[in-house]
Amino acid sequence: MLPWPLRRDPPGPIMTLWGSIPRFRHDPLGFLTSTARRYPDLAHFRLGLTDLYLVSSPHLLKEVLFTLTPKVHKGPLLQRAKRILGNGLLTSEDAFYLRQRKLIAPAFHREHIRNYAATMVEETEVHQRGWKAGAVVDVHAEMQQLTMVITGKLLFGSEVREESGEISAALNDLVAFDEKYFPWSALIERLPLPLSRRLQRARARLDATVYKMIAARRADPGAASRHDFLSMLLHARDAEDPSARMSDEQLRDECMTFFLAGHETTANALAWTSYLLARHPEVQQRLQAELAQNLAGGPPHAADLARLPYLEMVLYESLRLYPPVWTIARRPQEDIKLGGFEVRKGSVIIMPQWVMHRDPRFFPDPERFDPERWTPEARAARPKHSFFGFSAGLRQCIGADMAIMESSIVLAMVLQRWGLSPADDRTVAPNATLTLRPKHPVKVRLQAR
Ligand code: HEM
Repeated sequence: MLPWPLRRDPPGPIMTLWGSIPRFRHDPLGFLTSTARRYPDLAHFRLGLTDLYLVSSPHLLKEVLFTLTPKVHKGPLLQRAKRILGNGLLTSEDAFYLRQRKLIAPAFHREHIRNYAATMVEETEVHQRGWKAGAVVDVHAEMQQLTMVITGKLLFGSEVREESGEISAALNDLVAFDEKYFPWSALIERLPLPLSRRLQRARARLDATVYKMIAARRADPGAASRHDFLSMLLHARDAEDPSARMSDEQLRDECMTFFLAGHETTANALAWTSYLLARHPEVQQRLQAELAQNLAGGPPHAADLARLPYLEMVLYESLRLYPPVWTIARRPQEDIKLGGFEVRKGSVIIMPQWVMHRDPRFFPDPERFDPERWTPEARAARPKHSFFGFSAGLRQCIGADMAIMESSIVLAMVLQRWGLSPADDRTVAPNATLTLRPKHPVKVRLQAR
């Protein structure tokens, strides 16, 4: 491969010595969107000394996520997240990853996750009891609390509010630190500062809580007949090597991954969907009519969801506009070719859902919230992978069905009981960190129905 001055890169913004760092840091969504619109399909820019390749075409996305998968690893943010998530499914690579995915996949099969529906209904019911007619709630904070409790219960199989709160607070501290100080967080953490000591304490707390749960489950003689995620992992066996079991450390990493990947993203999806519904009363009313007709005020069962097509359309339109995972990134482990260009080992390929989901080539009038984009005909008319909220290929989200089921159940229960309207006319901007959180509280007024 040719050295940089002789290499032909895809087109991209003019580089300064610092590359595009100030613009990227200040407004990553705006910078990536304007770069992709100006240099469509494949653009090149630099952040300091790192080369970045911005993919904004479904065709090239497919090439990275399917054809090139054996030659690429996860991007820098997720590699850093290994400090927290260890070698769990989201962050592990190669043969070890493949073995773990095979072991864990049965816990996410449609048939199995149906067992989770009752917990989702139960916890939503309990959570809603605390709501009062006419009250204004921050729907993001509410949904974070609810999905945390649901995820904790699915993971450990019992009421673990306290432990879930502990895990969630410690994870939040660790993720916030990483986001704030990236790419220097590893260095800062090693310095003898009060900040780094606080972080070490957060990690120790997190480990202690999860190891305690694992020890309790190992000691439980009835664990084999339980359906929670931890029990499934404890009893997962590799068909080719039935004696191989997951170590406590591996169980910890997978539990942490399930907890973080499971509740943070779903809470964002629910918060953004509530925000959009509050601002589009006509969509909200149509959805409420569908729910009334099919559920008649009762709680949804997993089998009911197939009879709620408009609910699914609304959810997908919200995932398009506000994808909880707003970008995925990959690092080539060797020199590769992409779109006719040479991409060097160690550079970063960045594929933002935010950018492709708002590309007028695939979604005309892209800023408009319009669930009609998700009729079977409209879906079929678009290029495959123009929507990739759950990614695609080998490493696509293992929890996608579960996320859709949980979001559908929570929304169906909330909207049957409450009308949602905006408590102010403030537009809530997204904050593109590890996930796409709302930058400000999402204030919604609850009207009893
Ligand atoms: C709306 C909710 C969700 C969204 C938008 C979402 C999105 C994604 C995306 C885009 C990826 C690919 C990341 C990458 O390759 O860099 C991913 C991977 C993953 N997700 Fe989700 N996710 C959601 C919910 C969940 C839930 C509920 C769970 C589990 C309880 C989960 C567990 C995982 C795991 C373990 C991976 C790694 C899979 C692998 O590499 O094999 N996710 N998710």
